[in-house]
Amino acid sequence: MTVLLGFALTLLVLGFSRGLQPNWVREEPELVAVPSKFGSLWPLPQKVQINPTSFKLSSGSFRISDSKGSSAGPGCVLLQNAYRRYFEYMFGSKKQKVNKSGKSDPSELSELQVWITSADSECDGYPSATSDESYALSVDQPVAVLKAPKVWGALRGLETFSQLVYEDDYGAKSINSSFISDFPRFSHRGVLLDSSRHFLPLKVILANLETMAMNKFNVFHWHIVDDQSFPYMSQTFSQLSQKGAYHPYSHVYTPADVKMVIEFARLRGIRVIPEFDTPGHTQSWGKGQPDLLTPCYSGSQASGTYGPVNPILNTTYDFMKMFFKEISSVFPDAYVHLGGDEVDFTCWKSNPDIQQFMARQGFGQDYTKLESFYIQGLLDIVTATNKGYIVWQEVFDNDVKLKPDTVVHVWMNGGGCDKEMANVTAAGYTAILSAPWYLDYVSYGQDWQNYYKVEPLNFNGTEEQKKLVIGGEACLWGEYVDASNLTPRLWPRACAVAERLWSAKDVTDIGDAFNRLSAHRCRLVERGIPAEPLFSSFCPKEYKGL
Ligand SMILES: *[C@@H]1O[C@H](CO)[C@@H](O)[C@H](O)[C@H]1NC(C)=O
Ligand SMILES: *[C@@H]1O[C@H](CO)[C@@H](O)[C@H](O)[C@H]1NC(C)=O
Ligand SMILES: *[C@@H]1O[C@H](CO)[C@@H](O)[C@H](O)[C@H]1NC(C)=O
Ligand SMILES: *[C@@H]1O[C@H](CO)[C@@H](O)[C@H](O)[C@H]1NC(C)=O
Ligand SMILES: *[C@@H]1O[C@H](CO)[C@@H](O)[C@H](O)[C@H]1NC(C)=O
Repeated sequence: MTVLLGFALTLLVLGFSRGLQPNWVREEPELVAVPSKFGSLWPLPQKVQINPTSFKLSSGSFRISDSKGSSAGPGCVLLQNAYRRYFEYMFGSKKQKVNKSGKSDPSELSELQVWITSADSECDGYPSATSDESYALSVDQPVAVLKAPKVWGALRGLETFSQLVYEDDYGAKSINSSFISDFPRFSHRGVLLDSSRHFLPLKVILANLETMAMNKFNVFHWHIVDDQSFPYMSQTFSQLSQKGAYHPYSHVYTPADVKMVIEFARLRGIRVIPEFDTPGHTQSWGKGQPDLLTPCYSGSQASGTYGPVNPILNTTYDFMKMFFKEISSVFPDAYVHLGGDEVDFTCWKSNPDIQQFMARQGFGQDYTKLESFYIQGLLDIVTATNKGYIVWQEVFDNDVKLKPDTVVHVWMNGGGCDKEMANVTAAGYTAILSAPWYLDYVSYGQDWQNYYKVEPLNFNGTEEQKKLVIGGEACLWGEYVDASNLTPRLWPRACAVAERLWSAKDVTDIGDAFNRLSAHRCRLVERGIPAEPLFSSFCPKEYKGL
């Protein structure tokens, strides 16, 4: 009876969902992935030529080495690490014994030489907004050569080389003769993770950086604190995490943790841009820093609740000065993200001291003026630390006076954000786009296609305006995300954003993208990353679980 009922229910549910299946499911261009003429390359390089001649690779004899003329020698830890990493991706961790007696097989490719061509390889530096990530790769006999002006391009080229390697029908590693020259279309290609709504263990952050590198992302936007928790352990204000983290010891990022994230990212050509969002989104800050937040009133009585940062106290600015002095030395990147979004004015409006201040300043009832007053003060403070800043779009919308090199982060109105992009760039500011790429929103079906179809420069503006768009970020907000589901929710959906930001503008063929992405997703799985499937299919080597 129960079984029958269950069966009937299953039929009902199936019938129901079939009946509801929206049209776009039938419109999907490819339901079964077929090999692309570009193999499994993702994101697609700018210029690709793959020839039908293939060479064998054997883990016993193949090596990646510095080319003779390279400006980065064996002392370049970044490259040596990358050689080891990519060797393992290609062959696994077990190395075959070298067959010293054997003559070299002419159909075998025995070496990839990496040649950093400019005098300064930047091996020991940090990647930046202007880093050169270009490279040229030639895979041919007798050796493959990867040429790049800087180590950053070499990292991208190594990923590409590893993506060219495949297993033939007999399980032998092979690579085709290929010529690739490549560079990113946009310089800012980011992923935002939120470690405040849920604490993200270091391991999942590092795994994400690893996956970002496989997709040529180069910015980790670390939305590290928010209303819910303050896991960043400050050396100047230890109470912030002591009181504001979910747990003062187990749910914090120590200075050593932060250092590790930054170095792990650097080794993969990824910038770490921390976001310390104020004056809103700061409830957790208030726990460890008394008087930082605005006391809210209910009538003439303080209600015991708190609103945004209190913008009328000098102590607020003294605190911010010391706090951002620390941040500017802990995080090496030239930019910090200062947030500035979604400021709720209700509490400010209720507070009599704030009302008085508003009157004294002649702000009337316009609380955006008060917000601007605060942000202006903050920007001056951060400018004094020699950092540039990124702000969410509201800061621009509210007419705050910004430094000319400010980056405005556009996040509102999804697909209808073109007016905002036009406005921001018309005002001469640099822009990054996230509005269509909020990956925390999930829906049935292949939503990666929606991310893929976005064209960041599709707004009305001059050529000069278009040049001000430096890229975008896929955002994975953390309300419904922790270590248990972060990776499959983000990957491979974020891959769509990666290709849009790296590849040429005319790379828009959804069918070919599906073919390559299906193979790329299987590669992620083979590398141990639980990236979710795109659609009904299989991988030669399925995910085996943990
Ligand atoms: C690689 O070469 C083989 C022949 O050796 C050919 O069948 C295959 O199509 C080539 N792959 C690509 C992506 O061109
Ligand atoms: C080593 O190479 C020789 C000559 O090519 C070959 O005969 C022999 O089988 C190889 N040994 C192994 C273990 O692969
Ligand atoms: C706050 O700072 C301003 C400007 O430096 C100064 O004029 C004012 O007296 C200070 N207020 C208090 C309460 O210290
Ligand atoms: C863009 O600027 C125009 C002119 O100032 C304004 O009317 C419009 O509301 C702005 N659009 C957006 C989306 O901010
Ligand atoms: C650009 O402006 C034209 C005319 O004002 C309008 O028809 C068109 O839809 C706009 N395009 C975009 C992408 O906003």
